[in-house]
Amino acid sequence: MRLRGGTPRPPLPGPPLPDRAPEPSDSVDLPSELKYGGPLDDDVSDPELPFEPYRTKVVERIPNPSREDRERAIERAWYNLFNLRSDEIRIDLLTDSGTGAMSDHQWAAMMVGDETYAGSRNFARFESTVRSITGFPYVLPAHQGRAAEHLLFSALCRPGDIVPNNMHFDTTQAHVLHQGAKAINLAIPEAYDTQSDYPFKGNVDIGSLEHLLDRTDRGRVPLVMVTVTNNTGGGQPVSLANFREVARVARAHSIPLYLDMCRWAENAYFVREREPGMSGRSIAEIGRGFFDLADGATMSAKKDGLVNIGGFVATRDAALADRMKETLILYEGFPTYGGLARRDLEAVAVGLGEAMDLEYLAHRVGQVRYLASLLDRAGVPFLHPPGGHGIYLDVRRFLPHLPPEDLPGQALAVEIYLEGGVRTVEIGAIMFPQSELAPSGSIELVRLAIPRRSYSASHLAYVADVIARVYARRSTIRGFEMSYRPERLPHFTAHFRRKGTVASVPPPAVR
Ligand SMILES: Cc1ncc(COP(=O)(O)O)c(C=O)c1O
Repeated sequence: MRLRGGTPRPPLPGPPLPDRAPEPSDSVDLPSELKYGGPLDDDVSDPELPFEPYRTKVVERIPNPSREDRERAIERAWYNLFNLRSDEIRIDLLTDSGTGAMSDHQWAAMMVGDETYAGSRNFARFESTVRSITGFPYVLPAHQGRAAEHLLFSALCRPGDIVPNNMHFDTTQAHVLHQGAKAINLAIPEAYDTQSDYPFKGNVDIGSLEHLLDRTDRGRVPLVMVTVTNNTGGGQPVSLANFREVARVARAHSIPLYLDMCRWAENAYFVREREPGMSGRSIAEIGRGFFDLADGATMSAKKDGLVNIGGFVATRDAALADRMKETLILYEGFPTYGGLARRDLEAVAVGLGEAMDLEYLAHRVGQVRYLASLLDRAGVPFLHPPGGHGIYLDVRRFLPHLPPEDLPGQALAVEIYLEGGVRTVEIGAIMFPQSELAPSGSIELVRLAIPRRSYSASHLAYVADVIARVYARRSTIRGFEMSYRPERLPHFTAHFRRKGTVASVPPPAVR
């Protein structure tokens, strides 16, 4: 293997070469400009240092706050990294949602925005793209994923209902709870073992799903949902074989099956790489394998739609679509724009196609693996195997001296920020305080989500260095407590203080 600069190192595991030049449109009739995915050669698939399949056209200066700046900033922010300002952050790995860079084609698409209130041609293009990828006939735009969740869950769920999922993400769970229903997570046991290298840790535990549906009134389970990839559990994929089994069980109980398809292309990339018989399939074909088994999906296009804002809910159920449309008009806007500018819909249509580009996906997953390899060399514990959109630090192994009541995930995220201005997010007891999420407190993670097409390998090397430095002084890290706890989605707006201290910043006037 050729390395670009530096001393030669032993090869690391990485994405295998595809066995043929893929044609994403093999089984799906996509507009010609959405056909991506040329052959990958040795040069672009170097797993040591993933080749960026794009070059820079516009740049954005990265801030460089000093240690004193960071200390002041985090105190002002009540030790909640959501309260930081962007100019206080050097590398922002808070989320991969809506934080990526759009392509030249997407920006060009924005210029053909037809801002007609009703019947915009941008909606027609958006609708036909979503239909051609998913096969779902009814497509309702929404301003982002949680708006799509609102439409779906408010139409289907009643108080006392139960919604099973492999693992709900934060807003998904919150919307289920908001309807008075219960969110149940049924991921396989390997999902809770951070050191297991099982290739499909996003899979649903079929036995548990069958057991749940067998002992629950049919009328109390309005839908089964599966999240691809499983964000809460580390960006881990779901296999097509497992999803087929979920569909079989859901059908046997006459319960509709929906996908949370935010990261469907990343999931399909893993299926192509890991599932027997899939290596010759295109991303579009594999995606269709999932969509054909489902009754519909919600999507935050801020992930695999490669846009900064946008989403949709799609379904095969005409009556449900009509019900959701009424709510859509009430909360989002007319059904041909759904809370978005029409130019945004055009950018989503282009982005959905670009997300199927194999070279893009190889780089995306390659970046996560590259960061994983650097952290591994420093002995830093993280959830294995690396997922599709980020690294999840294993907080229990990182800070074994801090008990759960010391909020170790928050403590770690704060220390990483203080060390090098890197913003991450806790995924553990704070984000999921009162749920059926997991055997209580069984996963405690800090996520380093990599925005799409934004950061380079040297940025990731910087991140690895910062985290290695925090790891080296881990025994000095102290615990936190919450000084203000909002009722819903607490991680976004909670306040924290170091245990045993009184904050010097006065409380906010308005909460
Ligand atoms: C799996 C999953 N579902 C739903 C959402 C909600 O999407 P949005 O942030 O666009 O509302 C997210 C966002 O991170 C997500 O990761």
